[in-house]
Amino acid sequence: MTSKTSLAVRVLALATALLWGSGPQAQPERENRVAPMTGMAQRLDVETRVNDLLARMTLDEKIGQLNLISHGETLNWDDLSTGRIGALINFNNAQDISRAQRLARESRLGIPFLFGLDVLHGFRTQFPVPLAEAAAFSPRISRLAAEWQALEAAYVGINWTYAPMADLSRDVRWGRLVEGFGEDPHLGSVLTAARVEGFHAGGMATTAKHFVGYGAPEGGRDYDTTNITSSDLRDLYLPSFKAAVDAGTEAVMAAFNVVNGLPSMANPGLLTGVLRNEWGFDGIVTSDWAGIHELLAHGIAADDAEAARKAFLAGVDMDMMGRFYINHLADEVRAGRVPMERIDEAVRRVLRVKFRMGLFERPIVDERRVDAIFPSTEARAVAREITRETLVLLRNWNDVLPFKAETRSIAVVGPLSDATRDQLGPHGARAHAEDAVSVVEGLRRRAAGTGVQINHVPGCDRYCTSLDGLDAALAAARSSDVVVAVIGEYEKASGEAASRAYLTPVGRQLDLVEALVATGKPVVLVVVAGRPVELGRVGERIPAILMGWFPGTEAGAIADVLFGDFNPSGKLPVSWPRTVGQLPLAYNRLPTGRPPLAANRYTLGYIDEGVTPLFPFGHGLSYTTFAYSDLALAKPSFGANESMELRATVRNTGTRAGQEVVQLYVRDPVASRSRPVRELKAFEKIALQPGEARTVTLRVPVRNLGFHLEDGTYVVEPGEFQVFVGGSSLADLEGRFTVTEELRIEAGQRRAAR
Ligand code: BGC
Repeated sequence: MTSKTSLAVRVLALATALLWGSGPQAQPERENRVAPMTGMAQRLDVETRVNDLLARMTLDEKIGQLNLISHGETLNWDDLSTGRIGALINFNNAQDISRAQRLARESRLGIPFLFGLDVLHGFRTQFPVPLAEAAAFSPRISRLAAEWQALEAAYVGINWTYAPMADLSRDVRWGRLVEGFGEDPHLGSVLTAARVEGFHAGGMATTAKHFVGYGAPEGGRDYDTTNITSSDLRDLYLPSFKAAVDAGTEAVMAAFNVVNGLPSMANPGLLTGVLRNEWGFDGIVTSDWAGIHELLAHGIAADDAEAARKAFLAGVDMDMMGRFYINHLADEVRAGRVPMERIDEAVRRVLRVKFRMGLFERPIVDERRVDAIFPSTEARAVAREITRETLVLLRNWNDVLPFKAETRSIAVVGPLSDATRDQLGPHGARAHAEDAVSVVEGLRRRAAGTGVQINHVPGCDRYCTSLDGLDAALAAARSSDVVVAVIGEYEKASGEAASRAYLTPVGRQLDLVEALVATGKPVVLVVVAGRPVELGRVGERIPAILMGWFPGTEAGAIADVLFGDFNPSGKLPVSWPRTVGQLPLAYNRLPTGRPPLAANRYTLGYIDEGVTPLFPFGHGLSYTTFAYSDLALAKPSFGANESMELRATVRNTGTRAGQEVVQLYVRDPVASRSRPVRELKAFEKIALQPGEARTVTLRVPVRNLGFHLEDGTYVVEPGEFQVFVGGSSLADLEGRFTVTEELRIEAGQRRAAR
């Protein structure tokens, strides 16, 4: 999207916002936006109000603020006016929200609720899933997507999202990979911050989740234990959370998993030591859903009261759907096992967020508001723009794509070709399948009036358990010029509790593809899924592969790419394995003492598969080509407080205008600890006309070139570094520079100024 269009979109967003102002609640209320603190005066004002209110609260009312309750069968509406609930989850419409807001006002102190919901990639209009969004490699796109998602949710009164998911994962078996940014901590930090900013701009408070290590479960199994060295925790898994805190996230959610022997939900070292003491986070830590209850199953609490006490003292302020705090904390205080000051601190955090958000001043939402006004024309336009940027062209032998002018007929096959529900992906909030434009519908609309015929035969049903429709699909393929096979995963095959032991497309889809390939027609594979899928041997015979992810409401964007109206520019935020047996697999691995050598068995590898991924991290093709040259360091060496700066020339050597994500990787070849073979440290997306060359300047603060020791000390070691610039993690334009001085931050020195 050009900056001109981006400006137009923002103007539209603002215009929409102003239009909403016609209701009693001007929406979105710019002045009531969740905004980071703007100054000491405001900080004092909020703190004064917090302390004043706290002084008037009973113990029960205080603990009420720590109680987070869901809509649903167990909800007793009468409880909402008792002051014994602080926040609500799963309220998703203006009627329920306004009713709850009125009840809150009837409580003795009239403290407003936080209304939380998992708005992860859309409220009514569904944008591409977060992993897809990461493929855009664009903080601008992430900000824009989050802003629109928040605008729609905030319109009906929801004010708190349980997003962004800041969990790094190097294991594509893990179902929740789809909710995050993939395997790289730098990309993850940049995009997590952008998402926080975007949600804020759209009117919602955020929750960085799941703190921490949830993305590294053993065997890729959701909810399983993680073992992460202290240095990896700090180098890989914590940075995106830190970025969220720095961007002003109001909340952090503790994770379900055990990390290094202690459940995250009861981990004082992480929740209080790192998050609060080191980073100075002064917002809310919430539990995950009934997560405090799980401390019993984890075997670290004998009863409900002990579970409540352990989680609370570790640093969990809010109990989401556990009712452990409301049932036990008051007794724990009276028994002297939980100090009253700790209760006050936790309540302060909750009230602070509510005051900062302006909730006390917000009017009750107009109950006539309905999400059916979405997806609006503007929201669809933005969703389509964003979706286009997320599509990754993985392979394009002989320029099979885009379709040629002489293409007269296209067979569209596969269970995901017309899957308006599945294409939305998991966690759809108020998603409606009938809003969605499917892949085949997008192709039909694009082909209308051009004389190009679309022959649609799915070939099998949603789960592709049988190939009853194969003959019809093959007939369609034989009578068409080209075949588009849309295969992958149904919606619930990715997401929470959707880890997979097999990574092949679900059911018999690969058999279907094999039969299509056997017709001799060119087959274009469009993968609709929440993760890379294993394509097996047949994958080696497919000339063109486009990763469509779960594209959301506007899958018509896929037609834009297939027809060549939009030149793809997405890049993989995760390494694409050849087979599940290679996992975990990440480009930023440590070197081995025995690098792979085909001629030597006793080197790194498998006897039955290669060690490289099928498609590397950062990979993604375009309909044009880019050449990199003339790498020049601004100077040969840099001090610890400087930024390493370099220039490189990128030329569009093809015949079409296109965008390229210029990526910069660094390696510290000799250090006191073994360092990754490559680490992404900077990237920039640029647009080039055919033949145009641009000199791109990239900077990396030298302080970002270091690593953590096991005791938590952070060091940037002096010496020579290698730097690589290019269009994927295989970038081969190389330079070298020297860091002249050591930077060392001992663990104890990191305590935040408070
Ligand atoms: C998930 C969280 C989510 C919560 C509320 C849990 O099961 O782990 O990510 O925010 O439910 O829906």
